[in-house]
Amino acid sequence: MTQAHYATHGDVAVITMDNPPVNGLGHGLRRGILEGLRAALADDAIRAVVLTGAGKAFSGGADIREFNTPAAFAQPSLHTVIDAIEASTKPVVAAVHSVAMGGGLELALSCHFRVAAPGAQIALPEVNLGLLPGAGGTQRLPRVIPFELALNMIVGGFPVKSEKFKGTKLFDEIVEGDLMAGALAFARKAVAENRGLPLVRNLKVDYPHAQGYLQAARGAVRAAYPNLPAPMNCLEAVAASTRGTFDEGLARERQLFIELMEGPESRALRHIFFGERAAAKIPDVPADTPVREIKSAAVIGAGTMGGGIAMNFANAGIPVTVLEAKQEALDRGIATIRKNYENTAKKGRITADDVARRMGLITPTMSYDDIRNADIVIEAVFEDMDVKEAVFRKLDEVMKPGAILASNTSTLDVDKIASFTRRPQDVIGTHFFSPANVMRLLEIVRGAKTGKDVLATTMKLSAKIRKLGVVSGVCDGFIGNRMINQYSRQAGYMIEEGATPQQVDRAIEKFGFAMGPFRMADLAGNDVGWYIRKRHYAEHPEMKFPKFADKICELGRFGQKTGAGYYKYEPGKRNAIPDPLVEEMLVKHRAEQGITPRKLTDDEIVHRLMFALVNEGAKILEEGIAMRASDIDMIYLTGYGFPRFRGGPMLYADMFGLYNVVNRLNDFAAQAAKTPNGDADCWKPAPLLAKLAAEGKSFNG
Ligand code: 3HC
Ligand code: NAI
Repeated sequence: MTQAHYATHGDVAVITMDNPPVNGLGHGLRRGILEGLRAALADDAIRAVVLTGAGKAFSGGADIREFNTPAAFAQPSLHTVIDAIEASTKPVVAAVHSVAMGGGLELALSCHFRVAAPGAQIALPEVNLGLLPGAGGTQRLPRVIPFELALNMIVGGFPVKSEKFKGTKLFDEIVEGDLMAGALAFARKAVAENRGLPLVRNLKVDYPHAQGYLQAARGAVRAAYPNLPAPMNCLEAVAASTRGTFDEGLARERQLFIELMEGPESRALRHIFFGERAAAKIPDVPADTPVREIKSAAVIGAGTMGGGIAMNFANAGIPVTVLEAKQEALDRGIATIRKNYENTAKKGRITADDVARRMGLITPTMSYDDIRNADIVIEAVFEDMDVKEAVFRKLDEVMKPGAILASNTSTLDVDKIASFTRRPQDVIGTHFFSPANVMRLLEIVRGAKTGKDVLATTMKLSAKIRKLGVVSGVCDGFIGNRMINQYSRQAGYMIEEGATPQQVDRAIEKFGFAMGPFRMADLAGNDVGWYIRKRHYAEHPEMKFPKFADKICELGRFGQKTGAGYYKYEPGKRNAIPDPLVEEMLVKHRAEQGITPRKLTDDEIVHRLMFALVNEGAKILEEGIAMRASDIDMIYLTGYGFPRFRGGPMLYADMFGLYNVVNRLNDFAAQAAKTPNGDADCWKPAPLLAKLAAEGKSFNG
């Protein structure tokens, strides 16, 4: 199917790319452009060609969905299309009304002329997908705009508005008003003035200090992206534009592009691109499901989470009332919000006016009368079912009909919470992550009776407050914390077996995690996990736990806030200092448990932590708590500091090979069976994992 329309306007032909949503340059579109060009060249009445895009983009670039499929390599390739445009004997004018990104911009750069509407987004964002512009962008962009800007755009992948390029060779004209009329007029003028068939490839990079600048840039890129090869490959491809011929530069670009395309980092980043967009799609809640209007919000509890949640609303311009049980807690909560905003202003990220405006949107109160008309209320009181019950009974009594009643609980049963009201269809879980004003993840917990419109509204709201909403079903800990519980247990077992907290943390931080499990526990507060464990001991007496975590808590070593946890901390400082006392405690603890300490390799540490996540993730998928494997990955990437270049735990397992994962689980089970207090059962492969491994399949299709 061709995806480009051909039309003639007197002596000018217009080829319109039409491959929704963003005119990705898939095989059908590439063919369509070539067919249009051939028709124009064959028609003696045509003197020039305008290339443009229908809908919301000129072109968003190569069709990412085609990558790694035969269509990606099918002729005509983008290179073939570009060569044909460059070889055209009639001038081709790109008319960019909106997004021109990646291959789309590269296509425009191969045209003889380019005109754009103001406001069009111009970028070579391939680096965000772990790639580099592979259709000449690294060679052509530095020939038409200032070299440093071109390098920064290619290494940084950020968009720049078209009007900023006024006066450069990127655009011959910025057309105010009707772009198509402007493009047609420009094409005729180019012909009338005999401007010929200028090509970007024939220009020279005009930057005498390129080598010195590139050398400094190499150091900066190396330091900024230790785990990602794409930024450095982008730089090296641009560097090639400063020496040798254009075609030699293209060849170097090609070589560097192929290296990246085959690498795991690009696969991870492309998985993230689609995973983030897939998360918004709920199979039984179509995109046109009616949503409720959210013009005002309320938050119950002005503690750690409530304050951050309220800030999200204020940041998005939604008035929010914060209700507390105690005046002192209310004052403290509001003062913390103000301090947070003022600190952000001090760093220059917002202005004093922004602080005032946002604070003006936050109303403190002690009275439910002040919140009854809110469109959504989010409860963030203590994690205690009795307290939640009292709050939800009260909300049911006072809130206007149609208000959404949300809970920020991190572990409790949202269906039970809903049952405290006479409107369970209006109840939903909104699990923010700490600090709630910073962390991008919002786990949206869909109760058994949650209304589809309530779910659709909450998903839409998550985008409005700049969160990535990911849906979870109801279970203990939902997706993220249920999995992290298995991860923390393994961390606990490994220090019992012979590792130190710092060895475990170092290994997983080297793997790419922002923070290892023990530094993380010290930051979050060891008492939080202890509280949850005590409930688990009561609810699941059959479950095995490593016992050292309780010993740390029994000494009041709750982490940073008490100056000691798995590490020690100097007053006012956050750096974790290994504590010989903890090591002594561990030696004693192992002896009590009858454990002969052994040396654990970094490989064992990383794989036990990863595959504990993966095995639980597989159960969560099978139970339908997560809709898709990529949702689990998005949760880990945006809520738990999972390294982006690895794409999330489920993708990591896919890339490791599920057959190999199952073998590792069996090794760990055998090891656990030999270890006093070891838990071999937890390594039994989840049925879904075992099935996929046996069939040679993967979680992510
Ligand atoms: N290929 C295929 N699909 C694409 C796409 C692409 N290049 N870019 C966007 N889409 C799809 C999205 O998956 C989404 O699909 P969905 O509705 O089914 O979920 C839809 O288009 C809309 O995307 P957004 O939700 O992101 O819409 P926005 O309007 O917010 O943004 C955009 C549009 C600015 C184009 C943004 O989608 C974007 O940044 N896309 C990526 C652009 C990119 O990275 N291009 C480089 C591709 S690689 C390349 O060109 C290689 C070449 O150098 C050889
Ligand atoms: P917190 O203890 O910092 O704050 C709770 C606040 O609620 C206190 O200010 C308290 O005065 C107030 N409060 C208690 N009962 C109330 C009532 N009946 N009416 C009005 N206000 C009342 O607790 P935190 O950490 O903010 O946690 C709140 C909720 O968020 C809990 O359900 C917790 O599980 C969840 N959560 C916590 C995370 C964290 O990292 N702290 C992360 C994600 C969720």
